[in-house]
Amino acid sequence: MANPPSADNDAVVSPGSQAAPARYRIVITTNGPFIVHGQPPLVQQFITPDSSGHSWTYRTGQRFELDEPAALCRCGHSQHKPFCDGSHKRVGFDGTETASLQPILDGAKVFDGPTLRVSDNPDYCANSRFCDGHGSVWKLVLRSDDPQTAEYVLHETHHCPSGRLLAWDVASGVPLEALDAPELGLIEDPPSQSSGPLWVRGGIAIQSADGSVYEIRNRVTLCRCGHSQNKPFCDGSHASAQWQDGLPGGPEA
Ligand code: FES
Repeated sequence: MANPPSADNDAVVSPGSQAAPARYRIVITTNGPFIVHGQPPLVQQFITPDSSGHSWTYRTGQRFELDEPAALCRCGHSQHKPFCDGSHKRVGFDGTETASLQPILDGAKVFDGPTLRVSDNPDYCANSRFCDGHGSVWKLVLRSDDPQTAEYVLHETHHCPSGRLLAWDVASGVPLEALDAPELGLIEDPPSQSSGPLWVRGGIAIQSADGSVYEIRNRVTLCRCGHSQNKPFCDGSHASAQWQDGLPGGPEA
C-alpha cells in the first residue's frame, strides 16, 4: 500500500490554481494503480460535440463511489474498471513516470492578443480537441478585443481537461481560470471511439511513486490506458490506441 497522504500540500501551486484540502491526494504506485485519498466524486465525463462536430462540452454519466483509500486502474487492463484488480502484475505493466516535475509554464509557448493571452504546453495534450470549437484558440486569441471571440477563447481554454491551455488577462497579467471543486472524471470520447484519461480537477495533489509531488493545478489529466509516453500524465495516446474502458455508456455502447 502506498504512503498515506501527508498533512501538507508540499508542492508548488500553478498560477491560477488553488490547492485542494489536504485530505484529497492521489498517490502513484510503482507499476501499479493510482491510490486516491479523500473520496472525491468520480463521474464519467463524455466529450460532447456541437452541431459542427467540434468538442464543446461534457455530459456526465455514471458516478462511482470510492472507498478510503481507493485503488484506480492505471495499466488499462483491469476487468473491474475504473478500479484496480491486480491486472498490472499479470500484464507486466511498466508504469515508469517519465514526466517532468517542472511547472507546466516552463515549457509553454505564449500567444498574445489585444486583451487575452493563451499559454500552451503541448506536452500535456490529452487530444480532447476543445481548442477548435469556434475556431482555433490560437487564432481566436488574436481577435480577443471582440467580446464574443474572447468568450470563445475562455470557453475553449477552460474545457481543455489537461490544463495544456490557460487564458490570461493581458492588462493585469492574471490567469483567468474558473476554479473547479475537487472532483475526478473518467473521460469518455465517443467521437474518437476511445476512452480517455482520469480527469483530476480542483487542485488535488498528485504524488509520484518516489514521494515527490507534482505541481498542483486546477486541471490535470492522468493516463489510465497505460499507453502514455509522458506518465503519469495523458499524452493523447489512448485515441490512437482506440483504448476503451468498457464501462456502461462508454464509446462502444
Ligand atoms: S489515457 Fe490518454 S494516453 Fe493513456
